Amino acid sequence: MAIPQSFLDELKMSCDIGQIVSSYVQLRRSGRTSKGLCPFHSEKTPSFFVYHESQSFYCFGCGAGGDVISFIMRIENLGYIEALKFLAERVGIPFPEEEREDPALRIKPMIYEINRAAAHYFHNILKSPAGEPGRRYLMGERQLSSATVTKYGLGFAPQGWDNLRSYLRGKGYTDEQMLLASVVTRGRDGKSCYDTFRNRVIFPIIDLRKNVIGFGGRVMDDSKPKYLNSPDTPVFKKSRNLFSLNFAKNKAEGTLILAEGYMDVIAMNQAGFENAVATLGTALTPEQARLMSTYCKEVVIAYDSDGPGRTATNRAVGLLDEAGVKTRVLDMKGAKDPDEFIKKYGRERFKLLIDGARGATEYGLKTIREKYDLGDAAGKAAYLQEAAGYLAGVPSAIEREIYAGRLASETGVLPEVIRESIGRAARRAARRQERKTSADLEAGRLGAMQGNMRPGESAGDGILGCLYHHPDWRGQIAAEVDPALFPSPDQQAIYAALLEKQKTGECTLTELAGTLSSEQLGRLSGILARVSEGYFSISPEALPDYIRKMKTEAQKKEIASAQNLDADQYKALAEKIKRDKQAKTPPKR
Ligand code: UTP
Ligand code: MN
Repeated sequence: MAIPQSFLDELKMSCDIGQIVSSYVQLRRSGRTSKGLCPFHSEKTPSFFVYHESQSFYCFGCGAGGDVISFIMRIENLGYIEALKFLAERVGIPFPEEEREDPALRIKPMIYEINRAAAHYFHNILKSPAGEPGRRYLMGERQLSSATVTKYGLGFAPQGWDNLRSYLRGKGYTDEQMLLASVVTRGRDGKSCYDTFRNRVIFPIIDLRKNVIGFGGRVMDDSKPKYLNSPDTPVFKKSRNLFSLNFAKNKAEGTLILAEGYMDVIAMNQAGFENAVATLGTALTPEQARLMSTYCKEVVIAYDSDGPGRTATNRAVGLLDEAGVKTRVLDMKGAKDPDEFIKKYGRERFKLLIDGARGATEYGLKTIREKYDLGDAAGKAAYLQEAAGYLAGVPSAIEREIYAGRLASETGVLPEVIRESIGRAARRAARRQERKTSADLEAGRLGAMQGNMRPGESAGDGILGCLYHHPDWRGQIAAEVDPALFPSPDQQAIYAALLEKQKTGECTLTELAGTLSSEQLGRLSGILARVSEGYFSISPEALPDYIRKMKTEAQKKEIASAQNLDADQYKALAEKIKRDKQAKTPPKR
C-alpha cells in the first residue's frame, strides 16, 4: 500500500531519532552528534553515532545505519509497515486505514500456515509406516520417548524430491508461496522446485507465540551436512530466536541452561530439565543474550567439553555479561555433551553437575590450572603469572579478592604478592587497551570514514552524497551519470531510489526505508555520516570531480576486460576515452 506522505511527515516530526534511540541505547551527546554502544553488534568502545541534523544513525563498527524507522525495524525485528505502526502507536498518531490491503502483511500469516502444515505432515509421516527409519533413529538410537517426540512435534521427511511439495500443492499452495517459507528450494534451472528436507528427522522450531517459524533436519547416518536448518525467512531470524525457549521460559525460575544443539535440549527436557535452550546452528548473538536476559538472571552454559566448546563458552560468558546475566559453566567430564552425559550417567548426576556448576571465574582458573604442573616451581610460577593476568580482567573487585586469597593458599605464596601481581597485570592490560582503542579508532573509524574501497566506489558515494543533499541537482546528475557507472549494485539501487523519490521533491531516509534493503540503507547512512563529519565534500566543485573519477574508473575496468575486443573495436574504445577526457577536463586555473 502507498503510505500517505502526510502521515510520514507527521510521524517524522513526532519521532526524534535521539529520543527513540535513547530508550534502547545509552547515548552521550556532543554537539550535533551523539554516540553510544552499538545495539546491533557487541562492542566495548562506542562506534554507534546518531546524527541529529539528518535524523540518521550509523555504526562505524558494523555498518548498520538508517533513520528512526529502520532503527525500529532492526531492533524490534519488524517489517517496514509494522515499524511505522509501532512508532505511530508510540507517539499517538493514528495509522492510516487501508493498511489491510498491503500484501506484505499477508505474507507472514501465510508462511506460518505453510510451516504449520509442513510440521503436521512431517509429524504424521513419522507416526506412519513410512516413518519407520525416523522412528528407528529417534526412538531407537537416540532413546527418545514417544511423549518427547510428541512434545517437540518431531517429524520425518521421507526420501524423494516431491513429497511435501505435492502434499502442500494438494492444500492449494503454490511453489512461490512454498519458496517464501523455504520448505521447497528452487532448482538450478531456476524453474523447478524440490523439497528442502529429504530423508532427515525434523525438529520444528517454535517461537514464543507458538508459531512454527522454521525447521532443523538431521541425517540419520554420517553423511553431510549433519544438520540442515531453514534459512532466514520473513518469519525466521536465526540470530533472534532460541530453540525451545517456548518451553523454557515458563520453567526458568531465574535460570536458563544454554546448550549447543537441538538434541542436547531435547535430552535435557526428557530428563526433566525443561529450562534448556539452544542457538539455531550459529554462535550466540548479542540479541539472543538480551533475549535470555528477559527470562532469567543466570545462565548455566552447557556447551560441548571440546576445544571449540570452550572458545564458544568464553564468548557466551562475555555476551551474557554485557546483557547483565550471571553465568555459570558446566564442567562435563567423561562425555562430550549433555545428551551423552545424561545417557551415560543419568539425570541425578546431571543434576549434581548443574548444581555444582561454578562461576565463569572459577571455570577460567581451573582451565588455566590444568595446563601446569603445580608440583614444579617453574610450573607454579607460570600458573600464578597466567592466573594473575586472568584475574586482572575480572570486573568484580570482590571476586578478584576472593580468588587472590584462594590462589595464595593453593600455592603457598603470600596474598600480598599475588594482589600485587594482579595489580601489575591490570595496569598492563589497561595500557594495552588504551593503545588498542586509539589504534582501533584510527584504523576502524578513519578507515570507514575514508572508505577502504576502490576509487570508483568512493567517487560513487560522493555522487550519492551530493544527490541526497542537493535534490535540485537531480536533473544535472541524472543527465550525466549513467546508473551502470556505479561499481556496486547497492550504489546503483540507492541511485535509482533517490532519482525516483526525488521526482516529487526532497526525500529523506524515511521515504527510502521502505524501498532500500537494510544493507543499502546502512551504506547510505554511512555516506551521510562521512559528509557530516567533513570527510568528503558535497560542494558544487566536488561533484564534477566525483563524476570524472567514477567514469575514469569505469573505463579502466572496460579496458581491463577489453582483451576480447578485435583491433578495430579496441581503437574505437581508446578514441572514445580520449574524447571523453578532453571534454571533461576543466581548464587549468
Ligand atoms: P553438534 O555437531 O555438536 O551436534 O552440533 P549435536 O548437537 O551433538 O548433535 P547430535 O547429538 O550429533 O545429533 C550442535 C548444533 O550445531 C548445529 C545444530 O544446531 C546442532 O544442534 N549444526 C551442527 C548445524 O547447524 N549443522 C551441522 O552440520 C552441524
Ligand atoms: Mn550430541
